[in-house]
Amino acid sequence: ISLKPYNTFGIDTNAKYFTVASNIADLQSILTLADYPKKLILGGGSNILFTKDFEGLVILNEIKGKEVIFEDENFAYIKCNAGENWHEFVMWCIDNDYGGLENLSLIPGNVGTAPIQNIGAYGVEIKDVFESCDAISITTGTLETFTKSKCNFGYRNSIFKQELKGQYVITSVTFKLTKRHHKLHVNYGAISSELDKNGIEHPSIKDISKAVINIRESKLPNPKEIGNSGSFFKNPVIPKTHFEVLHKNFKDIPSYPVSDTEVKVPAGWLIEKSGFKGKTFNNYGVHKKQALVLVNYGGAKGLDILNLSKLIQKTVKLLFGITIEAEVNIL
Ligand code: EPU
Repeated sequence: ISLKPYNTFGIDTNAKYFTVASNIADLQSILTLADYPKKLILGGGSNILFTKDFEGLVILNEIKGKEVIFEDENFAYIKCNAGENWHEFVMWCIDNDYGGLENLSLIPGNVGTAPIQNIGAYGVEIKDVFESCDAISITTGTLETFTKSKCNFGYRNSIFKQELKGQYVITSVTFKLTKRHHKLHVNYGAISSELDKNGIEHPSIKDISKAVINIRESKLPNPKEIGNSGSFFKNPVIPKTHFEVLHKNFKDIPSYPVSDTEVKVPAGWLIEKSGFKGKTFNNYGVHKKQALVLVNYGGAKGLDILNLSKLIQKTVKLLFGITIEAEVNIL
């Protein structure tokens, strides 16, 4: 079966076997099928680059549903199953006036995969509103609960990308969201200018969501139109001493504070300065408006995109002495 409809890069690779799990019991029994030793669990397929066929069983996690499990005057605890589309869930929260996810509007993918890389945008990360998640151990088939502290969240990182990589399937995520007294995050430059432009002085969570949607639509390609996986690389964290040397040669190099000794540099800037922004090779390339995003214009091979990413890494290393790491999972 072709995996093209199941990865936002739109890469046409095949899976030898394919099945869909729509509830926890099904998923548990599929995971213990001994006849298929190689298994891959897919959610929205928005953070994966296939470079070859998958010679095993692909399991599409389609466990749907959401519920308010508890609420008081100020907070609502909402449990959302893994197979729900992320953006649709965010829109549902906003329509019901549950606050906290509005800055994360329009991020591709599903709810169950969002905590793995601690998705983040415009000053908010999922960890800021994350209460817990339930996950099935692939080895034992048992369902376990992971509290926030157990998840070890970091920038584009969690325990599910580190020690427990490939060992658990998240089945639901519980969020702690605000009611009425929302804590708005409007510090990110692009959001405040978007609100100003529309003359909004006292934004609602819906206004913020709309601003984020406008910003994303102006910079990031819609995977339904152009295959992509969002940021292909993580923004690198480098020692301040290294940054100071670079700053002497590149007066316009941007940076964000991380600690007393380190700063984060936007990989998009490094890639743009390396001359790759908007570069097109046949049917793939680097997005015109955001150099951090690699794109498949249709029919590209995963290996072509992987090789382009390696060329970019090599060039950035040569020019700036900085190693940029892929954020996308490569298979
Ligand atoms: N920049 C350039 N050229 C580019 C792109 C960026 O010079 O082509 C520089 C500019 O100086 C710009 C700065 O980088 O001011 C930051 O750009 P942007 O606001 O677009 O954010 P980013 O650091 O490139 C990160 C996330 C995005 C997220 C945005 C907004 C990572 C790897 N990426 O990008 O996440 O939407 O911030 O918060 O941290 C994703 O993970 O898929 C993703 C899109």
